[in-house]
Amino acid sequence: MGRRKPGFRKNHYFTHQRNRDNTKPQNSTERKPYTTIVRENEKFVQYYETQNVCSTKEEFDNFISVMKTDLPSTFRITGSKGVARKMLELVEDQLIKDCVQQEGSEKPPNIFALPWYPEKLAWQLELTRKDIRSCEAYYKLHNFLISETEHGTISRQETVSMIPPLVLDVQPHHKILDMCAAPGSKTAQLLELLHKNDDAIPSGYVVANDVDNKRCYMLVHQAKRLNSPCVAVINHDSAMLPNMFETLADGSSQQIQFDRILCDVPCSGDGTLRKNPDIWTKWTPANALNLHGIQYRILRRGAELLTIGGRIVYSTCSINPVENEAVIHRLLADSDGALELLDVSSSLPGLVYSKGMEYWQVSSRNLEFYNSFEEVDEKWRTTIRPQMFPPDQEVKEKFNLNRCIRILPHQQNTGAFFVAVLQKVKAFTAKEKKFENEKQESDNESKKRDFDERLPENQRKRRRKDVYREDPYVFFKEDEPVWKDIQSFYNISDKFEAQCLLTRCHEGKKKNIYLTSSGIRDLVVTNQSNIKFINTGVKAFVRCDNKNMKCAFRIANDGLESIYPYIGESRKVNIPKEDLMALLTNNDPQHSPAITSLSESIQEQVKDLSPGSCILIYTEEVKGSSDPMVIHISGWRGTTSLRCYTTQHSTVHLLRLLGGDISKYEVSKFKKAEEDSKPEETEAVKEDEAKEVEN
Ligand SMILES: C[S@@+](CC[C@H](N)C(=O)[O-])C[C@H]1O[C@@H](n2cnc3c(N)ncnc32)[C@H](O)[C@@H]1O
Repeated sequence: MGRRKPGFRKNHYFTHQRNRDNTKPQNSTERKPYTTIVRENEKFVQYYETQNVCSTKEEFDNFISVMKTDLPSTFRITGSKGVARKMLELVEDQLIKDCVQQEGSEKPPNIFALPWYPEKLAWQLELTRKDIRSCEAYYKLHNFLISETEHGTISRQETVSMIPPLVLDVQPHHKILDMCAAPGSKTAQLLELLHKNDDAIPSGYVVANDVDNKRCYMLVHQAKRLNSPCVAVINHDSAMLPNMFETLADGSSQQIQFDRILCDVPCSGDGTLRKNPDIWTKWTPANALNLHGIQYRILRRGAELLTIGGRIVYSTCSINPVENEAVIHRLLADSDGALELLDVSSSLPGLVYSKGMEYWQVSSRNLEFYNSFEEVDEKWRTTIRPQMFPPDQEVKEKFNLNRCIRILPHQQNTGAFFVAVLQKVKAFTAKEKKFENEKQESDNESKKRDFDERLPENQRKRRRKDVYREDPYVFFKEDEPVWKDIQSFYNISDKFEAQCLLTRCHEGKKKNIYLTSSGIRDLVVTNQSNIKFINTGVKAFVRCDNKNMKCAFRIANDGLESIYPYIGESRKVNIPKEDLMALLTNNDPQHSPAITSLSESIQEQVKDLSPGSCILIYTEEVKGSSDPMVIHISGWRGTTSLRCYTTQHSTVHLLRLLGGDISKYEVSKFKKAEEDSKPEETEAVKEDEAKEVEN
């Protein structure tokens, strides 16, 4: 996986469009620094005051003033149960002490676990990203966040963005569709939930889609950090997502109905004003009017692809009812009782939020507010549509719009967000009249928006060139020549489905071998002609033509957890802590530690182990947890030495878990800059920014 690392960082629609529109590469020096942006917009204030998004004037003033401040940093702890518990122990015992309170100020910044997130695995720091990046006292915290994010053990995701996957109630057997998935923080969370039982290969899977080809590669990068064989990245307009098919036990095929769907649609993003202050200068009520149609069509297509009894979560980072309750109301009205809003408040204990709005007004771009479509001035009737209005107040109860969740920034110092959870209770059939309305809407949108097919011919050619052509997905056949050697060298169980291994070339020497779950394999094989697959498969084996090893492939760390249970005991080595430390702290890349320098236990275990790839297993009890921390690392038994394959980030991560000395890696970029006599921090900051994963 992972063929390129794109540079986009924003995920709300208008900032994203701006990036797309710009023909020149974005140069950060051309951007207006956020500190100089005036965080004022009269229309914004007037619009939301009129919409009564807060219940009192005082609350509204508080809402506006918090909206003008920067966002605090947050992260989630991910990974297998044992490792996650150990990370939590480190965060509670060490991170807070060493990284935050050492600041030396009278009142250290607050850091706390989010009450509604299970098992204390999500944390909020009352420090902005900029505080952490630019203040020397926090360099250890910054290093921790960067290296553990890169390693995949934490995810730097905004608080409110963690909610949609949580309320989707994901189980490991679910077929999940993420309709608008890039850059992929929620996809990553969905995958973690799919793997929550620590099964090597869960039977469910995640199909992560985005219309934007380049942003699909951000998804690939995110998914790669989680090393799951259960995800496929695809590239379609989800309002017109083609049907997908699966093969049944008798060999026939049927259309896939997803168990869970996340519909985190493109939106005006005014809920992200704290993170993206440039929206202050661009905000108008027209943004929401322009997006309502596509939001509705994506949600409706999702509802069609959902199985009966399944859940779909609709979310936006917008405050505007036209993008939120209006879209939900429209679908509920169109679906004739096929969909119901669920009350999920009990699954988010301690979350402060406002109930969904049951009444709102629709406004023109000039802030003329209307209570019904009949009142709308003729000149606005192409942009303001009847479906944008609230339900008739006599029948509003039947829609339960108050079950929607609205989170405002002042409620718990977050961004603003909207979430609605829908369940499908019977088949969904589209109403005829809808299509007439949509034709009108599409016509309007086509004038305003610049989707690929609507670009001028000269730009279209350029965009097509940008699109990356994918290598094929070539799954192993039953008699795959290289498989025999691999299977016998690693003593792999017959239960392992070798047909789920794939390469990315039809001919020539196979370099990397990837693994998918059987569900993903079937999805790719069955739908390759109608679905544009961008990426799938976790790297399981890597070619290494070493004359001392009888097999041409070594085990890759990426896919190790998935293949581990199938590998015979003969190539597994239980490694004691001191030996693992010795391997991790070996400073000489040319000379791995000699076996004779390691413990007797290791010498005994590797005595009869032929040279080549092996798995090192480290186990440690975790305080207050019934799940021990178990770490598997790809290792190499040389003729006289032993080594482990780790990147620098994973070395730091492992040493941190083991309580080892990481001072050599704890570089303060401030000190380094001083020592190097380099001007200021600019390069270091740029590099750190590039490494930080957007949510
Ligand atoms: C709010 S962002 C999604 C954020 C993402 N769910 C996450 O958590 O990282 C909206 C995404 O929708 C994508 N998008 C816009 N229109 C789309 C469409 N018609 N079909 C599929 N994706 C679309 C955009 O490219 C953008 O990546």
